[in-house]
Amino acid sequence: MGYKVVVAGATGNVGREMLNILAERQFPVDEIAALASRRSLGTEVSFGDKTLKTQDLDTFDFSGWDIALFAVGSGPTKEYAPKAAAAGCVVIDNSSLYRYDPDVPLVVPECNPEAVEGYAKKNIIANPNCSTAQMVVALKPLHDRAKIKRVVVSTYQSVSGSGKEAIDELWDQTKAIYNPTDDREPKVYTKQIAFNVIPHIDVFMEDGSTKEEWKMVVETKKIIDPAIKVSATCVRVPVFVGHSESINIEFEDHLDEAEARDILREAPGIMVIDKREDGGYVTPIECVGDYATFISRIRQDSTIDNGLNLWCVSDNLRKGAALNAVQIAETLGKRVLKKG
Ligand SMILES: NC(=O)c1ccc[n+]([C@@H]2O[C@H](COP(=O)([O-])OP(=O)(O)OC[C@H]3O[C@@H](n4cnc5c(N)ncnc54)[C@H](OP(=O)(O)O)[C@@H]3O)[C@@H](O)[C@H]2O)c1
Repeated sequence: MGYKVVVAGATGNVGREMLNILAERQFPVDEIAALASRRSLGTEVSFGDKTLKTQDLDTFDFSGWDIALFAVGSGPTKEYAPKAAAAGCVVIDNSSLYRYDPDVPLVVPECNPEAVEGYAKKNIIANPNCSTAQMVVALKPLHDRAKIKRVVVSTYQSVSGSGKEAIDELWDQTKAIYNPTDDREPKVYTKQIAFNVIPHIDVFMEDGSTKEEWKMVVETKKIIDPAIKVSATCVRVPVFVGHSESINIEFEDHLDEAEARDILREAPGIMVIDKREDGGYVTPIECVGDYATFISRIRQDSTIDNGLNLWCVSDNLRKGAALNAVQIAETLGKRVLKKG
């Protein structure tokens, strides 16, 4: 006996990847439903070699369904996730709505798999922000060895992190550079994204940081250790898929780069590619479609005691969203629901 699984947001970037990954990893599915807004009623989406017709989230009855993977944004999540949870279906949510709720676990299975067991208070488990997910996969094994005091991170985030309209905006603006009669007015972003970079993701906070930067601080603490200090600068770059991060880490104990490299090589979910030669590192284009978080450019930071620099790249639609959600479902299945 397997699970009855719902994917809400099945026509979106993350929802489509959820369906792909459930099929690729042979998640034990007995029945699957693909949901989106009424606008997409009947739209066909792929699930392995099957085609599913999209149903309307608004009228869907969650009774009798085991797990719902949500990727519909905070607004619709606020309306529909509590209904699904009340019907006895465990919601694994990709929006930011529940991440900071003390009664909702925030889970990255490589870091805090045991936290899924706290799902029952609300029948909801939260998936972290994409830039946090890949960073904590790299930080956790290093923290276990040498205790991280402070992290300074700069991100280079792809447009797919802002949904399907942002992908169209980069594509259309890029074409318009060569054909200036085409429309290239920014709509999703506040400035032109093609051939540009924008140091602004999500809304501004009172202290001058952005909500995306705040999320990296708060989520890292919730997932790994409240004592870790994080200083983040989040930047949108004209890349379709794949987020990159330059991460500077200060440890309590000494950790040399050779040992750090060995620890990361052994750590779950990580692939170290660090050859110290032309092309001997990973760029976002190479991570697309992969499960791993890639680590390159591991080197000592000689300007502080116990400092390390690294470069971290991952597919934001996969580890940053859909893959992590499916891994949470797998963890919940193994530890709690025990079907399949
Ligand atoms: N992209 C990432 O890297 C990433 C990472 C982590 C978390 N997330 C989160 O995942 C969620 C989805 O992101 P995305 O990139 O997949 O966005 P997207 O490509 O814009 O897709 C949005 C999906 O939500 C559905 N939807 C929107 N409003 C709805 C409503 N009122 N009722 C039912 N369905 C509705 C859309 O259906 P229609 O096609 O019918 O409009 C579509 O399936 C967001 O919460 C986002 O913050 C994304």
